[in-house]
Amino acid sequence: MRSILRDALITTMLVGAVSVALAARNPQEHQHPGTHPEGGAHRHPDAAKLKNPVAANAESIAAGKALYEKQCAGCHGDTGKGDGAMGEELNPKPANLTDADWKHGSTDGEIFVVIRDGVKSTGMKPHARKMTAHQMWDVVNYVRSIAAH
Ligand code: HEC
Repeated sequence: MRSILRDALITTMLVGAVSVALAARNPQEHQHPGTHPEGGAHRHPDAAKLKNPVAANAESIAAGKALYEKQCAGCHGDTGKGDGAMGEELNPKPANLTDADWKHGSTDGEIFVVIRDGVKSTGMKPHARKMTAHQMWDVVNYVRSIAAH
């Protein structure tokens, strides 16, 4: 009797551990911005709420373009089509930033968070240490200016 109870207890614990592990692997459960490299299009609601503090004027877009050419064009291409030489070997490939498809969301905040935090397990690395927040918003303004919407 005792051992049956013990077995039942162990089984319950195992089932619990396995379902916790499975839940952690389910991409839908992740709340981290900039993840889901394997998934399809999805949104990042918390990132979408971030307000762009930098007006998308000519000065900001020009600053963003200069930063883009240095830090992004190698992978995303000179015109943003995702065809930079550095991206050829990458899987997934660098995104086309000029089309209307946004795997990680199309708001300023979602684009900002992808640039800041990168996309885990892909060639898209975090840029938080390479640029100030203001510079990253300039890049967001530039990317929005070349995007289809
Ligand atoms: C080393 C190559 C590389 C560099 C450099 C790079 N990216 Fe990326 N980027 C990628 C890859 C690969 C993806 C696709 C990730 C995915 O499919 O989830 C990506 C995805 C993105 C996305 C998401 C697009 C979408 O559809 O939601 C944005 C926005 C983006 N990059 C902007 C930038 C900007 C801006 C810079 C420069 C500050 C930059 N990237 C630098 C490789 C790069």
